[in-house]
Amino acid sequence: MKKKVSIIGAGNVGATTAQLVVHSGIADVVLLDIVEGMPQGKALDLAEACPLWDSTSKIKGTNSYSDTAGSDIVVITAGLARKPGMSRSDLLHANADIVIAASAEIAKTSPDAVVIVVTNPMDVMAQLAWKTTGFSCRHVMGMGGILDASRLRAFISWELDVSPEDVEALVLGGHGDDMVPLHRFTTVKGIPLTELLSKKKINQLIERARNGGAEIVSLLKSGSAYYAPAASTFKMIKAIIFDEKRLIPCAAYLNGEYSMKDVYMGVPVVLGKEGVEKVVEVKFTREEKIQFKKSYASVKKLVKQLGM
Ligand code: NAI
Ligand code: 2OP
Repeated sequence: MKKKVSIIGAGNVGATTAQLVVHSGIADVVLLDIVEGMPQGKALDLAEACPLWDSTSKIKGTNSYSDTAGSDIVVITAGLARKPGMSRSDLLHANADIVIAASAEIAKTSPDAVVIVVTNPMDVMAQLAWKTTGFSCRHVMGMGGILDASRLRAFISWELDVSPEDVEALVLGGHGDDMVPLHRFTTVKGIPLTELLSKKKINQLIERARNGGAEIVSLLKSGSAYYAPAASTFKMIKAIIFDEKRLIPCAAYLNGEYSMKDVYMGVPVVLGKEGVEKVVEVKFTREEKIQFKKSYASVKKLVKQLGM
């Protein structure tokens, strides 16, 4: 029997993630939204593409959590997206209510699920989903670092005119303006980036990745990025379904790792069928430590605003 992936929020990120899962055929999908008819319509459209994709995945659109019951993975994308001029944290209170409601339903209907939180501000929403579901922290994580790293990889590959596949990057910290791209761990087929590009150029590319989300918001005018976010979420879903033990930066609960406690932060983790199977600790330089602490302070400030 195929694994069951439920996606809460059938908007841009949710529906595109559903498309990637159904196209790959690796799981059945339930697409849920509060808007009546919309998830059903998108699901029907996707189902009608399956013969062309040679996919045997089943997809159902719904407004009821009962259809999501017994999910192996639940992705939370429900909520408001940024408009030009807004930061991810401007979405805090509206999205917190939505994530609390979704998490409470998930806890009732899919108690064994691994939950991937996408809704922004993602690090804080992941912590909220963990608290509300009462799940093991291994089963609740946020998607962000993989997306930020993918953006940086794209920019580096264009600059060097090499395949993006050969560029590896690690972006840690919160998925916000204080994210921590680690150029020491950014390589092109193992070659340190510092051997291929000047410090000035590297800093420019890092700055672009830092503003990657905002750059797209300002071009789209309404709504935010969704193709790369959905592709990032899909990679995480795949790593969990196939127990791939992929090393992926995502928001994970820190309980002493990196000398931090009781906070979700972007760190490299091993992702497998149990969810976050391990938090991998890297030694920071003094400068990186300062940046990571700054990022921690930004996340913690929002966590406090929610009274957590
Ligand atoms: P969207 O507006 O296209 O879709 C959001 C959907 O959520 C809408 O269809 C809406 O009806 C639905 N929704 C609202 N309240 C709901 C509820 N209580 N239950 C179920 N569904 C509900 O937005 P988009 O572009 O899909 O983004 C979704 C969220 O993901 C936003 O908060 C955005 O900021 C965040 N995001 C996070 C990224 C990350 O890297 N962590 C990347 C991209 C987006
Ligand atoms: C992004 O990075 C908005 O978090 C979203 O595109």
